[in-house]
Amino acid sequence: KCAPRGALVIFGGGGDLTKRLLMPAIYNLACAGLLDEDFQIIAVDWAEMTIESLREQFQDAINDFVTRRGTSAIALRQDVWDHLLERTSYLRGSFEEASTYTALSERLGHQNAVFYLAVAARFFGTIVDHLGESGLAQEDDETYRRVVIEKPFGSDLASARALNVRLLSSLEESQIYRIDHYLGKETVQNIMALRFSNGIFEPLWNRQNIDHVQITAAEVVGVEKRGRFYESTGALRDMVPNHLMQLLAMTAMEAPTSFEADAVRDEKSKVLSAIHEASVHEIVRGQYISGMKGETALKGYREEPDIGIGSQTETFVAMKLGIDNWRWAGVPFYLRTGKRLTQRKTEIAIHFKQAPFALFRDTPVERLTPNILIIHIQPSEGVTLQFSAKVPGPAVRLGGVRMNFNYADWYSDGPTTGYETLIYDCLVGDQTLFQRADNIEAGWRVVQPALSHWNSGGVPMSFYPAGTDGPREADELMHRDGRRWLDLSK
Ligand code: BG6
Repeated sequence: KCAPRGALVIFGGGGDLTKRLLMPAIYNLACAGLLDEDFQIIAVDWAEMTIESLREQFQDAINDFVTRRGTSAIALRQDVWDHLLERTSYLRGSFEEASTYTALSERLGHQNAVFYLAVAARFFGTIVDHLGESGLAQEDDETYRRVVIEKPFGSDLASARALNVRLLSSLEESQIYRIDHYLGKETVQNIMALRFSNGIFEPLWNRQNIDHVQITAAEVVGVEKRGRFYESTGALRDMVPNHLMQLLAMTAMEAPTSFEADAVRDEKSKVLSAIHEASVHEIVRGQYISGMKGETALKGYREEPDIGIGSQTETFVAMKLGIDNWRWAGVPFYLRTGKRLTQRKTEIAIHFKQAPFALFRDTPVERLTPNILIIHIQPSEGVTLQFSAKVPGPAVRLGGVRMNFNYADWYSDGPTTGYETLIYDCLVGDQTLFQRADNIEAGWRVVQPALSHWNSGGVPMSFYPAGTDGPREADELMHRDGRRWLDLSK
């Protein structure tokens, strides 16, 4: 269904996010026929720039996008792209001055608008205040006005709460779209499809059958050019209250009564509020030191640009969480995320309980291959089930095998940014994949004790060489419970 006529106003329209992800996503929506013919883009930014030079930058970025993805590269549909560029305009102005909003109001007139805040977090409050004061946030029976907020949403529980209060003084909750780009990933959305459109998984999805759950978001890259941002953020804030909490919520929530936005978000809220705050003894904070990847020497975090020599910022975090409800009581959820690890891999691994006794006498229960259902989020996308099978031959021996579903074997698609669904949902007013105020605060609540404790300087840093699976202490967190992490390189 084509989105209603309207404009997308991008604050930070000259920035990296707009070029690399938003414009290609809008282009994909246009190709799919999901945008109105008259759909407009207004890029707002402070840089002295002509519309021609902005269009050139967008052109470079889209060329890069369509050719970058190897086998799935496609030819640019120049007619569709040119039409979009014709409908793109530039408004130069400071985000902090009322005159910018007066000019925007004139340009926009009386039409639907989504204001996308692709800007540094310190501008979120200011821009929304101005949208409120200038009347731009005012909706009526014919026109909607919506605001998309990128992350980071606050830097701890108190600042996230304060930001929510500030936004809600100019906007209704129904106008606010807090983005977590993980929710735009097909494979993340597939968690709900897997759980709630199949009869076979849900009956097993509980403490009677599941031993524990591992959620991993491992990256090979270091901090790249984002040193300044990362130094004041760290792995915990950057990944856990948002991305990992969303993965956990999708995995652990009860079935919603419908796929209405609030029905889904209510269930997420319930499960997130049942997580007990991470105990400081069950969180490991790590930082990478120099290491090797094959023949290549990798720098340590403290040698990266814009990082202090004695930096106490973590680039890795592992933790054990519990959920206090009937479905999950006693089932640990282990989370880990980090930069400069062996492999890029995001996955959720559901480890089922062992068979109750050893019928195959030569293979004791502990040596049976555990049943694990792995939901692969990226880079490979799909689902794997691991189980035991007989090794061929006259003697009865058991071995571990895997049954694989690979998205790419079933469905083929051109390159996507993951922002297509999110932008489209804003245009049509579906908030299901966006975080409500209480969802965001619930994520921060879980990590707040660790943040406070770390700030007080009481927890030593665990170091790991770049290009490895993380610090030894993360393995010990598992070993204490008689468990181990899945190998990142397998
Ligand atoms: C971002 C973090 O939100 O997510 C980055 O700020 C991180 O540090 C990125 O690299 C990971 O996203 P993805 O989609 O590559 O898993």
